Amino acid sequence: MAIREIRIIGDPVLTRKAEPVAAVDEAIVRLARDMVETVHAAPGLGLAAPQVGVGKRVIVVDLSVGEDESQLHVLVNPEITASEGEAVCEEGCLSVPDIREKVVRPFRVKVRGLDLEGRPVEIEGEDLLARALCHEIDHLDGILFVEKLSPLKRAIIRKKLRKSAAGKA
Ligand code: NI
Repeated sequence: MAIREIRIIGDPVLTRKAEPVAAVDEAIVRLARDMVETVHAAPGLGLAAPQVGVGKRVIVVDLSVGEDESQLHVLVNPEITASEGEAVCEEGCLSVPDIREKVVRPFRVKVRGLDLEGRPVEIEGEDLLARALCHEIDHLDGILFVEKLSPLKRAIIRKKLRKSAAGKA
Protein backbone atom coordinates (compact mmCIF):
# COMPACT_ATOMS: atom_id res chain seq x y z
CA MET A 1 0.00 0.00 0.00
CA ALA A 2 1.09 3.54 -0.57
CA ILE A 3 -0.05 7.04 0.19
CA ARG A 4 -0.92 8.85 -3.03
CA GLU A 5 -0.70 12.57 -3.67
CA ILE A 6 -4.02 14.39 -3.21
CA ARG A 7 -4.90 16.68 -6.11
CA ILE A 8 -5.94 20.22 -5.25
CA ILE A 9 -8.68 22.42 -6.78
CA GLY A 10 -7.46 23.75 -10.12
CA ASP A 11 -6.23 20.30 -11.22
CA PRO A 12 -8.30 19.33 -14.31
CA VAL A 13 -8.73 15.72 -13.12
CA LEU A 14 -11.08 17.04 -10.41
CA THR A 15 -13.56 18.48 -12.92
CA ARG A 16 -13.64 15.48 -15.29
CA LYS A 17 -16.32 12.80 -15.16
CA ALA A 18 -14.76 9.55 -13.99
CA GLU A 19 -15.11 6.33 -16.01
CA PRO A 20 -17.04 3.32 -14.73
CA VAL A 21 -14.82 0.44 -13.63
CA ALA A 22 -15.22 -2.43 -16.11
CA ALA A 23 -13.72 -5.11 -13.85
CA VAL A 24 -12.63 -5.07 -10.22
CA ASP A 25 -9.13 -6.29 -10.96
CA GLU A 26 -5.85 -6.12 -9.08
CA ALA A 27 -5.17 -2.52 -10.14
CA ILE A 28 -8.54 -1.37 -8.76
CA VAL A 29 -7.98 -3.24 -5.49
CA ARG A 30 -4.55 -1.62 -5.15
CA LEU A 31 -6.01 1.80 -5.97
CA ALA A 32 -8.76 1.36 -3.35
CA ARG A 33 -6.29 0.20 -0.67
CA ASP A 34 -4.02 3.15 -1.42
CA MET A 35 -7.02 5.47 -1.19
CA VAL A 36 -7.89 4.07 2.25
CA GLU A 37 -4.32 4.62 3.42
CA THR A 38 -4.26 8.10 1.90
CA VAL A 39 -7.54 9.23 3.48
CA HIS A 40 -6.54 7.87 6.89
CA ALA A 41 -3.17 9.63 6.70
CA ALA A 42 -4.63 12.96 5.55
CA PRO A 43 -6.74 12.60 7.77
CA GLY A 44 -10.14 12.85 6.12
CA LEU A 45 -13.55 11.17 6.11
CA GLY A 46 -13.67 10.20 2.46
CA LEU A 47 -11.87 10.21 -0.85
CA ALA A 48 -12.74 9.67 -4.51
CA ALA A 49 -10.31 8.26 -7.10
CA PRO A 50 -10.07 11.52 -9.12
CA GLN A 51 -8.61 13.14 -5.97
CA VAL A 52 -5.56 10.91 -6.38
CA GLY A 53 -5.48 11.58 -10.12
CA VAL A 54 -7.34 8.47 -11.31
CA GLY A 55 -10.48 8.99 -13.40
CA LYS A 56 -12.26 5.82 -12.23
CA ARG A 57 -15.48 5.46 -10.27
CA VAL A 58 -14.11 4.36 -6.88
CA ILE A 59 -14.83 5.98 -3.51
CA VAL A 60 -13.89 5.35 0.09
CA VAL A 61 -15.73 6.71 3.13
CA ASP A 62 -14.72 6.10 6.73
CA LEU A 63 -16.26 8.37 9.32
CA SER A 64 -14.16 6.67 12.02
CA VAL A 65 -10.88 7.59 10.23
CA GLY A 66 -9.45 4.11 10.72
CA GLU A 67 -10.75 3.54 14.26
CA ASP A 68 -13.60 1.16 13.40
CA GLU A 69 -13.41 -1.19 10.44
CA SER A 70 -17.20 -1.55 10.27
CA GLN A 71 -17.38 2.10 9.23
CA LEU A 72 -15.05 1.72 6.26
CA HIS A 73 -16.96 1.68 2.98
CA VAL A 74 -15.17 1.08 -0.31
CA LEU A 75 -17.46 1.28 -3.31
CA VAL A 76 -16.79 0.72 -6.99
CA ASN A 77 -19.23 2.30 -9.47
CA PRO A 78 -21.40 3.75 -6.67
CA GLU A 79 -24.83 5.04 -7.57
CA ILE A 80 -27.42 6.77 -5.43
CA THR A 81 -30.62 4.77 -5.78
CA ALA A 82 -32.80 6.67 -3.30
CA SER A 83 -32.55 9.87 -1.31
CA GLU A 84 -34.76 11.44 1.31
CA GLY A 85 -34.99 14.61 3.34
CA GLU A 86 -32.58 17.49 3.57
CA ALA A 87 -29.81 18.53 5.93
CA VAL A 88 -27.52 21.55 6.08
CA CYS A 89 -24.06 21.14 7.56
CA GLU A 90 -20.55 22.48 7.17
CA GLU A 91 -18.47 20.50 4.75
CA GLY A 92 -14.84 20.44 3.70
CA CYS A 93 -12.77 18.58 1.14
CA LEU A 94 -9.16 17.38 1.06
CA SER A 95 -8.91 18.89 -2.45
CA VAL A 96 -10.09 22.31 -1.25
CA PRO A 97 -7.76 23.05 1.68
CA ASP A 98 -8.83 25.33 4.53
CA ILE A 99 -12.34 25.96 3.21
CA ARG A 100 -15.44 24.85 5.12
CA GLU A 101 -18.93 25.91 4.09
CA LYS A 102 -22.52 24.89 4.74
CA VAL A 103 -23.93 22.65 2.03
CA VAL A 104 -27.44 21.22 1.61
CA ARG A 105 -27.49 17.43 1.14
CA PRO A 106 -30.13 14.70 1.41
CA PHE A 107 -30.58 13.45 4.98
CA ARG A 108 -30.71 9.79 3.95
CA VAL A 109 -29.44 7.98 0.87
CA LYS A 110 -29.22 4.46 -0.45
CA VAL A 111 -26.14 3.72 -2.51
CA ARG A 112 -25.51 0.70 -4.64
CA GLY A 113 -22.15 -0.40 -6.02
CA LEU A 114 -19.59 -3.19 -6.01
CA ASP A 115 -17.19 -4.24 -3.27
CA LEU A 116 -13.54 -5.17 -3.89
CA GLU A 117 -14.55 -8.72 -4.72
CA GLY A 118 -16.83 -7.42 -7.45
CA ARG A 119 -19.98 -8.34 -5.52
CA PRO A 120 -22.99 -6.01 -5.53
CA VAL A 121 -23.47 -4.15 -2.25
CA GLU A 122 -26.01 -1.64 -1.06
CA ILE A 123 -25.55 0.67 1.89
CA GLU A 124 -27.91 3.07 3.54
CA GLY A 125 -26.60 6.17 5.24
CA GLU A 126 -28.06 8.95 7.30
CA ASP A 127 -26.82 12.37 8.23
CA LEU A 128 -22.99 12.57 8.05
CA LEU A 129 -22.66 9.23 6.23
CA ALA A 130 -25.25 10.32 3.62
CA ARG A 131 -23.38 13.61 3.26
CA ALA A 132 -20.01 11.91 2.79
CA LEU A 133 -21.40 9.45 0.23
CA CYS A 134 -23.01 12.27 -1.79
CA HIS A 135 -19.83 14.37 -1.58
CA GLU A 136 -17.62 11.52 -2.87
CA ILE A 137 -20.05 10.50 -5.62
CA ASP A 138 -20.13 14.16 -6.74
CA HIS A 139 -16.34 13.95 -7.18
CA LEU A 140 -16.88 11.11 -9.68
CA ASP A 141 -18.98 13.50 -11.74
CA GLY A 142 -16.33 16.22 -11.54
CA ILE A 143 -18.23 18.27 -8.97
CA LEU A 144 -16.50 19.91 -6.00
CA PHE A 145 -18.64 20.99 -3.02
CA VAL A 146 -17.78 24.65 -3.57
CA GLU A 147 -19.79 24.52 -6.81
CA LYS A 148 -22.92 23.99 -4.72
CA LEU A 149 -22.51 27.40 -3.06
CA SER A 150 -23.89 30.78 -4.10
CA PRO A 151 -21.96 32.80 -6.75
CA LEU A 152 -20.91 35.30 -4.04
CA LYS A 153 -19.52 32.55 -1.76
CA ARG A 154 -17.73 30.99 -4.73
CA ALA A 155 -16.14 34.35 -5.62
CA ILE A 156 -14.91 34.79 -2.02
CA ILE A 157 -13.45 31.28 -2.03
CA ARG A 158 -11.70 31.82 -5.39
CA LYS A 159 -10.10 34.93 -3.93
CA LYS A 160 -9.01 33.06 -0.77
CA LEU A 161 -7.54 30.20 -2.82
CA ARG A 162 -5.63 32.64 -5.05
CA LYS A 163 -4.21 34.35 -1.97
CA SER A 164 -3.13 31.07 -0.34
CA ALA A 165 -1.61 29.84 -3.64
CA ALA A 166 0.33 33.11 -3.90
CA GLY A 167 1.43 32.71 -0.28
CA LYS A 168 2.85 29.25 -0.99
CA ALA A 169 4.58 30.22 -4.25
NI1 NI B 1 -13.97 16.05 -1.41
